[in-house]
Amino acid sequence: MDAITIIRAKRDGHALTPEQIDWVVAAYTAGEVADEQMSALAMAILLNGMTRPEIARWTAAMIASGDRMDFSSLPLPTTDKHSTGGVGDKITLPLAPLVAACGAAVPQLSGRGLGHTGGTLDKLESIPGWRARLSGPEMLGVLREAGAVICAAGEGLAPADRKLYALRDVTGTVESIPLIASSIMSKKIAEGTGALVLDVKAGSGAFMKTEADARELAETMVEIGADHGVRTVALLTGMSTPLGLTAGNALEVRESVEVLAGGGPADVVELTLALAREMLDAAGLKDADPERALADGSAMDHWRRMISAQGGDPDAPLPTARDTHTLAAPATGVLAELDAYAVGVAAWRLGAGRSRKEDPVQAGAGVELHAKPGDRVTEGAPLLTLHTDTPERFGAALAELTDGGAFRIVPEGAPAPEVRPV
Ligand code: URA
Repeated sequence: MDAITIIRAKRDGHALTPEQIDWVVAAYTAGEVADEQMSALAMAILLNGMTRPEIARWTAAMIASGDRMDFSSLPLPTTDKHSTGGVGDKITLPLAPLVAACGAAVPQLSGRGLGHTGGTLDKLESIPGWRARLSGPEMLGVLREAGAVICAAGEGLAPADRKLYALRDVTGTVESIPLIASSIMSKKIAEGTGALVLDVKAGSGAFMKTEADARELAETMVEIGADHGVRTVALLTGMSTPLGLTAGNALEVRESVEVLAGGGPADVVELTLALAREMLDAAGLKDADPERALADGSAMDHWRRMISAQGGDPDAPLPTARDTHTLAAPATGVLAELDAYAVGVAAWRLGAGRSRKEDPVQAGAGVELHAKPGDRVTEGAPLLTLHTDTPERFGAALAELTDGGAFRIVPEGAPAPEVRPV
């Protein structure tokens, strides 16, 4: 076997054989296939696609590149959720303890943000003392203690994906359905969850801009899960406007705690409950009542236990940015659009996100929304508040929000904009 023959085969539109896939994934992980060869192959896959059998084999090869976790010693069914990522998507934070409060175990391996989408670990790290890196036994300990754990994947889990995802990030090869589906599912299957709910996002703030692409990605991932014996379901949800009223690390933790306390923005509560019901159903806990667990404080209790078990102080004040700047509504009327991508890029420019994997993030930076599409706004009243420790960044963030039509206000009584949740 050699890499050049495999690259040429995919370049010319052929399906790779199972042996070619096994070899190239293993050889790349072992450092025997060079980064430039793998990036050529990734680009050929992006341009020419893969058949479902190729995707299944590629995923299996990535799982086989590392360790598999095993939670079978736990007395509870395991269930997990994965979102394909968006702006203001803090759902994992209230969801994991909520589902734990309903009787399932939630082993949630999460990632960091890159570019305009936030990362769950970056958000939680704004809680003083909280640790993302846990050993396998520590992870099991937190699961036993709190019913839920949210942490970084260990080095040994799907190392082929770890290497390949970093390469795709810098070679313009992220946006490929076969590569995204195999990347996500290899990690989730290696993680050893019994059931998995996928929140596949569509819209300007998501990887998948159209509903058709999001549906294809969802179907591909559900099939991979089923092949590996993981009960997998997918919801398609909208990401054309941010979720909730905040995008940024500590800002989103604050909003998540509001949801756990029985408040919070309606869209965040609704999606949290919808995903909780699917996770509990997939785990066989059909009679569980997540609404009650939010209302009676048991979800909050599990949150506090989970944060404390990972070294965090759930009572510590969250960091706030040193500076804020408020953008006022330029007209009176109804907010017809507020673009998720523009808000995500603005939060990133303010310091909430990173451009390179090794960059630090600011805990307090981000964007706070004072209105959502459909709300009435008044000229001169606050529309968005920008938060940062580095005020020289306000200019770049404001440019994202004001130069490119990031929001649209229409006169009251104008034909209602079409709001189309996917
Ligand atoms: N998230 C992943 O884990 N992998 C991808 O390829 C895209 C998003």
